[in-house]
Amino acid sequence: IPIERYRNFCIVAHIDHGKSTLSDRLLELTGTIVKDGTNKQFLDKLDVERQRGITVKAQTCSMLYNYRGEDYLLHLVDTPGHVDFRLEVTRSYASCGGALLLVDASQGVQAQTVSNFYLAFAEGLSLIPVVNKIDMPSADPPRALRQIEQTFELDTAGTLLVSAKTGTGVDKIIPKVIEDIPAPTGDENKPLRMLLVDSWYDTFKGVILLVRIFDGTIKPGDQIYSFATQTKYTVGEVGIQYPGPTPQTVLKAGQVGYVFFNPAMKRIQDAKIGDTFTLLGKEKIVEPYPGFEEPKPMVFVSAFPTDQSDYQKIAEHIGQLVLNDRSITLMKDSSEALGAGWRLGFLGSLHCSVFQDRLRQEHQSNIIITEPSVPTKLEYPEASGHGALSGKTVVISSAADFPDQDGFTRERRPKSFEPIVFASVATPKEYLGRVIELCEVARGEQQGIEFFGANQVMVKYIIPLFHLVDDLFGKLKGATKGYATLDYEDAGWREADLVKMQLLVNRVPVDAISRVIHRSLAERLGRLWVTKFREHLDRQMFEVVIQAAIGKKVLARETLKAFRKDVLQKLHASDVGRRQKLLDKQKEGRKKLQSIGNVTIDHTSFQKFLSKS
Ligand code: GTP
Repeated sequence: IPIERYRNFCIVAHIDHGKSTLSDRLLELTGTIVKDGTNKQFLDKLDVERQRGITVKAQTCSMLYNYRGEDYLLHLVDTPGHVDFRLEVTRSYASCGGALLLVDASQGVQAQTVSNFYLAFAEGLSLIPVVNKIDMPSADPPRALRQIEQTFELDTAGTLLVSAKTGTGVDKIIPKVIEDIPAPTGDENKPLRMLLVDSWYDTFKGVILLVRIFDGTIKPGDQIYSFATQTKYTVGEVGIQYPGPTPQTVLKAGQVGYVFFNPAMKRIQDAKIGDTFTLLGKEKIVEPYPGFEEPKPMVFVSAFPTDQSDYQKIAEHIGQLVLNDRSITLMKDSSEALGAGWRLGFLGSLHCSVFQDRLRQEHQSNIIITEPSVPTKLEYPEASGHGALSGKTVVISSAADFPDQDGFTRERRPKSFEPIVFASVATPKEYLGRVIELCEVARGEQQGIEFFGANQVMVKYIIPLFHLVDDLFGKLKGATKGYATLDYEDAGWREADLVKMQLLVNRVPVDAISRVIHRSLAERLGRLWVTKFREHLDRQMFEVVIQAAIGKKVLARETLKAFRKDVLQKLHASDVGRRQKLLDKQKEGRKKLQSIGNVTIDHTSFQKFLSKS
């Protein structure tokens, strides 16, 4: 099949608007998968995706279609459905010539439809609006069409109205793709120029790369070169997903397919999304695809085994999970209170919570996961007594690295910056007041309000990532009966008055519970910490003082009275046997405990403290 009869396309949609269901219908329609229900949501591979209904991993599939007597080779490139994977999304779009802009007929245009539209538009894709779920009683296709016209300034005259569920109208889609989406351009006689779109790990074959060939050809045995890592590889196999991996003798300009190496690429981290490959020796004359970026982890959590004897088992499981997700960073961590553990970095809050869910599911009460935190940027002034750090700018991801501010005048303290995001919230009008209130509480700065359609409104805010991670989305959903949708993108850093708050138990800091926060939140959070910690701490043989402090300044305090007196006070002094028994019992209860200074703390207290109340 010549390049003029290739079509590469993807589906731009908000979560749950039916991307996976529609993909399945298209694969059935072209005979790529058999219509018997067993292939349900073929493109949604991972379990957790199914559970959460989120496409975490992009997968692609090729299809053959005969249109007016000629065979066409179609590549449907699946894109991750959620916002933390913006980089993957843009790379997927870059490999396509066009996209179906899918809108749910009952929900209309939502926050992610809009932001994904802009990404697709920026990549120069031809967009075909498709209104889905027209079988639903609450469907309102004319409203969806009006919103598409107003928001995207697209001509909706020939818009396809479909139901991915029942199949109504779906047969019109592929002819329209062939008519409206341009064939890829590219010259197979030029040297190889290949973009890495996605990757995944296979136990036998190592890392498998999903690629789009822009120029040239690639076949087994070729020696190729990665611009991002400056490493060379020998091609082991090339092929297309049809629907499973189907080896080909060669992949040519215009095609989307997979490649793996022999010897295998071992680390998923070496497959850099957005990397360009060429034939070894051609790296001087081939221009790499522009805009390559390393993913930056922006949300961090630490995890510890409740019982150190589980360390190995949990370490292996985390290792496996990370093997399949190149965007997670993993480091060893250790805490005085909780022992040895791990520190994990994620692209964003949803990415983080999907991973947390998987860990909790597998290890339940055997794992303690700290609250998510975000990085901090510190600018140290020159000649200021900060030693080697003077005059330097550093980004830290752990509160443990936040400097002690006591003893420095304001001018000599490092300037602190927090990551911010540009957030768009779409909501029905009646909840606008509540949405604005929540964004303001989250220290948001309003950037604009747009009304679209009769009832929808989109507010735009610059918001600290700290608050986004602190379940802003959950709060928005709660305040809008689940209607609000949120989308965000990285907006850099903003100077902020940040401080490190610590929890002290009998004046000794508990390192697992320290956080970098905005000063304005200190008072309230300090109160919350001490009350909550007191609630979950077992009584001790002596009085325990629990404090929340910034440096030397104590913001909140609670005392837990001694226990011993209470246990024994009601007993008669001569009842020695019973007295000994009670004391033994107390001792036993202390077995799997950790001590902070002279205070012993049960691990479940940490777990309860750290779990959301
Ligand atoms: P993500 O993978 O999370 O991005 O979601 P998605 O956009 O792929 O949506 P998915 O295909 O999983 O569909 C979401 C829900 O809508 C599922 O429960 C589908 O069964 C349902 N659904 C999809 N298309 C239709 C349709 O045409 N009509 C009706 N009634 N339901 C549909």
